[in-house]
Amino acid sequence: MSRRTQVQAVVFDAYGTLLDVHSAVARHAARLGAAAGPVSALWRAKQLEASWILSATGAYENFAVLTERALDHALAVHDAQDATLRADLLRAYRALAAYPDAMPALAALRGAGVPAAILSNGEPAMLREAVASAGLDGLLEAVLSVHPLRRYKPEPAVYALATEQFGCDPGEIAFVSANGWDAFGAARFGFRAVWVNRAGGPVEYGLDRLGTIIPSLDALPGLLAPASMRG
Ligand code: LAC
Repeated sequence: MSRRTQVQAVVFDAYGTLLDVHSAVARHAARLGAAAGPVSALWRAKQLEASWILSATGAYENFAVLTERALDHALAVHDAQDATLRADLLRAYRALAAYPDAMPALAALRGAGVPAAILSNGEPAMLREAVASAGLDGLLEAVLSVHPLRRYKPEPAVYALATEQFGCDPGEIAFVSANGWDAFGAARFGFRAVWVNRAGGPVEYGLDRLGTIIPSLDALPGLLAPASMRG
């Protein structure tokens, strides 16, 4: 795909990219004390692990269920089982904060006339609630969930939901994710992959060759000139 092909749409991962997955525990951090950071990290890690293992074995449970089970695991490991806290954390997960760079990036795309969408593992209702409570819904043309396919990223069929939505080739879509494995899946599918390396960590999955790496979404609007992205 020529680098000069125009980007027709920008498709975002949700959790970790637009929505801060650690904002749920952050809201109740005082109740977890020193375990807050480790609980949040393990919650996320187990949630993602389950999505990969279920998909790899042809099994499926929706992302809200995986999120609950992963939280139970994390709270048990850290000896923090507490029904009220559990309920509060799950409620907070449905109303995660957007990263501060999310709304300005989406607004800039809108201003430039570039359609934006989400493609997420999230189950439709949890995704809809989180996007609305973060105030992002008015800036998105579509919020696509993997749920109808009963498969998770990085399965290629899941990424095809975005090309179907916009009726274009993969190379005409910029796919933006802060999850390196997801950006890699997107690049393998043929999207112009953009990895938001929020943590400033080492390069993952050869994304310096396969995609474009930016430190935050602030750099996204400047990337959309046709010649400035890999792919
Ligand atoms: C999502 C997960 C991968 O939103 O963060 O799809």
